[in-house]
Amino acid sequence: MIQFDNVSKRYPDGTNAVNSININIKEGEFFVIIGPSGSGKTTALKMINRLIPLTEGTILINGKRVSDYDIHELRWEIGYVLQQIALFPHMTIGENISIVPELKRWDQDKIQKRIDELLEMVGLEPEIYRNRMPHELSGGQQQRVGVTRALAADPPIILMDEPFSALDPLSREKLQNDLLHLQRKIKKTIVFVTHDMKEALKLGDRICVMKDGEIIQIGTPEELLANPENEFVRNFVGEEQEITRKTFHLQNLILPASEDEISQKIDRTISTSASKDEILKLLTQYNEVAVEEDGKIIGIINRQAIIRQLAGDMQKEVR
Ligand SMILES: Nc1ncnc2c1ncn2[C@@H]1O[C@H](COP(=O)(O)OP(=O)(O)OP(=O)(O)O)[C@@H](O)[C@H]1O
Ligand SMILES: [Mg+2]
Repeated sequence: MIQFDNVSKRYPDGTNAVNSININIKEGEFFVIIGPSGSGKTTALKMINRLIPLTEGTILINGKRVSDYDIHELRWEIGYVLQQIALFPHMTIGENISIVPELKRWDQDKIQKRIDELLEMVGLEPEIYRNRMPHELSGGQQQRVGVTRALAADPPIILMDEPFSALDPLSREKLQNDLLHLQRKIKKTIVFVTHDMKEALKLGDRICVMKDGEIIQIGTPEELLANPENEFVRNFVGEEQEITRKTFHLQNLILPASEDEISQKIDRTISTSASKDEILKLLTQYNEVAVEEDGKIIGIINRQAIIRQLAGDMQKEVR
């Protein structure tokens, strides 16, 4: 859906921010770009909606060059969350959220409903927040509004540049979960920049590791953990051997699921009393399995939940 063909960016001062990168992001994919500061993540992201013009190569969206798109179409159809909070200071929160819906001339009822729905989604009570000004919100709250603004007009593609980095760990985790839920439900194509590997492993269908404007590796979380391309990636994701020694707390990994979802997985079940090895073995075969306790199915677990816990354990050790 979004394709980078040998894309480079050289800034006027001679900085080579991005060097001949090739990426193919699929429709409905949650694609994470990770790398240290200055590795070219923001530059790569901004070239997609032409906030930054590219120097060489081509970026295609649905087979059409971004340079051939009408610029408004490109900006309206692609939600964008900036690295820095950037709400318009003289507009209320509601007005900030409704910028693109207004441009698209949605009717007022629909816009008001959408504002409230989005505010609720990120845990900001609409009655309290919709008429406040940005400076009357904390930094983290403003950033949450920034996220809802990108989602407002329901764009098929969303670009997010470290959207959660300013949040406290709890709100951060909540928004990550909301975003995962949303992604599961409506299958947006999301390109998400972060420098936090825990976040990347939790959210990404695939992760692209960048360094000095180049791509070091693109792979699923499992691939990165199991087969890091080199020392740099290995250090980034942590030692695999370390991981397999970790203990699991199965109870913490169980995700609620609808009866429909569960019934599809019912032939692959695991008991809450299963050992770590049994869980791992089953999840190398299946992406998701149902969990049963006392003969009753109580939810599902999946690979992503396992990786999330492993990543959490890794982080605790670093601290
Ligand atoms: N307008 C500019 N002019 C010149 N050089 C720039 C410009 N913007 C960015 N750069 C340089 O390009 C390189 C990549 O910058 P970029 O902002 O893409 O990095 P990043 O990976 O997003 O970093 P961070 O994690 O700190 O946000 C850096 O060396 C940066 O200094
Ligand atoms: Mg950046």
